Amino acid sequence: MDELLEKELRKPSLIKNSRVLDLKYIPKKLLHREEEQKMLIQYFKPVIEQPGEYSQRVSIIGAIGTGKTAMALKFGEMIKVYSTQKNLNLEYVHVNCRRARSAFLTLLEIVRKFNPHIPVRGFSPEEILNMLTEILNRKRLFLIVTLDEIDFVIRKDGPDLLYDLTRLTDDEIDMKERVSMITIVRDIAFRTMLDESTLSTLRQNTILLEPYTEDQLRDIVADRVKEAFFEDTVSQEAIDLIADIVSKNGDARYAIELLERAGIHADHRQSLKVLPEHVRYANASIHPVIRQEIVKDLTSQQKLVLLAIAIKLRTTQKAYATIGEAEEIYKGLCEEFNLPTRSHTQVWEYIQYLQNCDVITTKPSSKGQRGQTTLIGLPDVSAEKIEKAIREQLEKHID
Ligand SMILES: Nc1ncnc2c1ncn2[C@@H]1O[C@H](COP(=O)(O)OP(=O)(O)OP(=O)(O)O)[C@@H](O)[C@H]1O
Ligand SMILES: [Mg+2]
Repeated sequence: MDELLEKELRKPSLIKNSRVLDLKYIPKKLLHREEEQKMLIQYFKPVIEQPGEYSQRVSIIGAIGTGKTAMALKFGEMIKVYSTQKNLNLEYVHVNCRRARSAFLTLLEIVRKFNPHIPVRGFSPEEILNMLTEILNRKRLFLIVTLDEIDFVIRKDGPDLLYDLTRLTDDEIDMKERVSMITIVRDIAFRTMLDESTLSTLRQNTILLEPYTEDQLRDIVADRVKEAFFEDTVSQEAIDLIADIVSKNGDARYAIELLERAGIHADHRQSLKVLPEHVRYANASIHPVIRQEIVKDLTSQQKLVLLAIAIKLRTTQKAYATIGEAEEIYKGLCEEFNLPTRSHTQVWEYIQYLQNCDVITTKPSSKGQRGQTTLIGLPDVSAEKIEKAIREQLEKHID
């Protein structure tokens, strides 16, 4: 083995189990969410006790990192165990609508849980829906489906997906209530944008997750430290500092990201403990508003467009960039990263996508300017931090 490689691999780490710091990891216990979990179970009590007789729709709303996804996944785990024990035909399916990218692909992903071989092309949404009905009827299955980050799909394709899925229960031959839904929405303001009928489709069963307080965040971090790190390798001051930093937004996701980065940095420094300085370093290297996860999910082309916008805004120190300006820099970046330059129409689509993900903001320019164009801005994130995050990602992987 190469000497350098061998030495690096042998270097001791403070992290005992890095999987626990992964954002996909569901902790054994969700701290400070007991009441909300009880509410969710109570809402679904009739569905769980008498599948087929009732269906239910609940929406979970809360800001970034308030545990919406974790809570739904935890509920799904409970359902799976319970349904196996009691021999119920109750299934839980969790789909992230943003990752699925459209209403149609979300629907397809649900059906694919039961029939993985359905091709992407060749079927209309209607046919996919019929397929789902047919499968559920034939297998006598009952479904609780979580549509996570559904605001993305509603903004992009309208509320039809919601109607389609709720209609499933009405069109049944045997009149069984086969599909229940949990919808997850981040933005509370988003609800006010919806029309009456969409709102009533979401129904009024809402569980609101408040941002975590500093004390709650400290507990969450401390609990994760126990699972992820060797004993006594994270100082209490470091935990306190993380809780303090993230308490502004009450965001547990950012807390865990900070913990992971601080741990990795402490390892690099060959420190025997994670100290406040490592947390400060970690905090300077990431930004809380744009989620790393969203940046990771972008295609390389989308990343380049976002990078171009960030570069333009940083270098001009202006609040907005025009599409033309961004596109010019984008072209240079394509050369730098050796990627093909996409057409104007496609770049425009990427920009719409980024806007749907709340990564950028767009608004039409005032009439005064020559011709009307779209102005692109960044929400309250530093362009420099975005630049850094994307370059980091592109260096790791280009698709
Ligand atoms: N109560 C909690 N106890 C322990 N860990 C938690 C708790 N709430 C959230 N977390 C952890 O924080 C991270 C973010 O939580 P989650 O993904 O559920 O947030 P979210 O509300 O879905 O955020 P987003 O709007 O960004 O999707 C996850 O790693 C999750 O495990
Ligand atoms: Mg989530």
